[in-house]
Parts: sequence; structure tokens; C-alpha cells
Amino acid sequence: MTQVTPPRHSDRVLIATTPRLEIRPWTLEDAPAALAMLSRIEVVQWLGDGDPVLTKDLDEARMKVETWRGRDNPPLGHWAVEVTDGGPLHGRTIGTVLLLTLPNDEHGEVEIGWHLHPDAWGNGYAPEAATAILERGFSGGIEEIFAVTDLDNVNSMKVCTKIGMEHRGTIDKWYATPSQFFVITREQWLAQQAERT
Ligand SMILES: CC(C)(COP(=O)(O)OP(=O)(O)OC[C@H]1O[C@@H](n2cnc3c(N)ncnc32)[C@H](O)[C@@H]1OP(=O)(O)O)[C@@H](O)C(=O)NCCC(=O)NCCS
Repeated sequence: MTQVTPPRHSDRVLIATTPRLEIRPWTLEDAPAALAMLSRIEVVQWLGDGDPVLTKDLDEARMKVETWRGRDNPPLGHWAVEVTDGGPLHGRTIGTVLLLTLPNDEHGEVEIGWHLHPDAWGNGYAPEAATAILERGFSGGIEEIFAVTDLDNVNSMKVCTKIGMEHRGTIDKWYATPSQFFVITREQWLAQQAERT
């Protein structure tokens, strides 16, 4: 009898692939991975405004996943990052990459963002995922993409620099407290792509 293996994720839509990663919508099957990441203070301390709030259980994680799925608005969205490199993390959902309108935006300004489980840090996965998402944003018609980080979030600032974003100092709109502010325009992106070929 033929064995049919059900897909691991109910809707395996691919947003982007990179040499080591797949970027795809979050699914409810990913709730344990979301919980593993959002229950870690090392991750949550850098996200959003106000005091960090840890996700406590799977029900809360499922609600987060539903929220993220509801942000699908091409080319914008909030996606899962899964490792496909055959290494120790192969097959694991390691975190998020997102392209969303900034909170308190004035003109629909778009931010790129990322957060990964600490087990995945230091492998260059965030820059690799973010590069694919910049490409999605610019090919989808966005003219300028911003990134904002906490003032002392050195790791995230390094990701911004690695993907070719320009540091423009600090800014105190969009989020409640001042943030480091990075930008890349479509022209800069295209020039960087041309240099690489
Ligand atoms: C920011 C973040 C997404 C970077 O992802 P990543 O895939 O580790 O990115 P990189 O591998 O390029 O590493 C970036 C820097 O993190 C630092 N880093 C890497 N591994 C680390 C580790 N295990 N512990 C502490 N810092 C580490 C390094 O300084 C590295 O820079 P380098 O490559 O010049 O040495 C990840 O650290 C994270 O999820 N942090 C918590 C959430 C967060 O800050 N999100 C951004 C909000 S603006």
C-alpha cells in the first residue's frame, strides 16, 4: 500500500527561499517554536514598546501565530523562517522575519524586522532571511525600507549593516522610546545588487 506522508505544514506557501532557509507563513503547527522563542527574555527584551512580556503557554503562542498570519498583505507580511541547510537546525522553525508598516506611521513607512531563537544566533541566518525579504519588498514596489532597533541592540544593528542599510542616527517617532534608525532605498538596493554581479 502506498504511504502518503501528510505535509508538515498545512499551507506550505513559500514566500522566499535562500541557500539555507525557507521563508513561509507561520502556521499553528509552529506554535511550539513561537513559544520557545517568545518565552526567552534574551529575545523579547528587544521587541516592541514597554516592559517585555514573555509568552507563557501554547494558547498564547497560537494567538501570536494567528496575529502574524493576519498581517499578510503582499508584499508585506510577518513570516516564519525555517532552516533547510542539512545542519543541526535543519527542519526547525527558528524565528521571524517581517516587512510591515511602522506603528504610528505617517505615510505608510515600511519596516523590516527579525527575531530568532537564541539557538540559531550567530549563523548569519537573520541577514540571509532579511536580504530575501528586502528583495521581495523592492520588487513589490516599495521605494524605501526602514529598520529601527533599541539604542543598544548591537546584534540587530549588525544585521542592518550586513544587509546594506545605512545608519541615520536615532529617531524618536514610531516607537515610544528613541531608536536607532536605518534606511535602504530601492536605488541603493539596486546599486548593491549590480555591484555583486
Ligand atoms: C538580532 C538577531 C536577529 C541576529 O540574528 P543572527 O542570525 O544571529 O545574526 P548574525 O548571525 O548576523 O549575528 C549578528 C551579531 O550577533 C552577535 N551574536 C552572534 N551570535 C551570538 C550569540 N550566540 N550570542 C550573542 N551574540 C551573538 C554577533 O555579534 C553577530 O555579529 P558578527 O557576525 O559581526 O559577530 C538575533 O540576535 C535575535 O533574534 N536577537 C533578539 C531579538 C532582536 O533583537 N530582534 C531585533 C529587534 S530590532
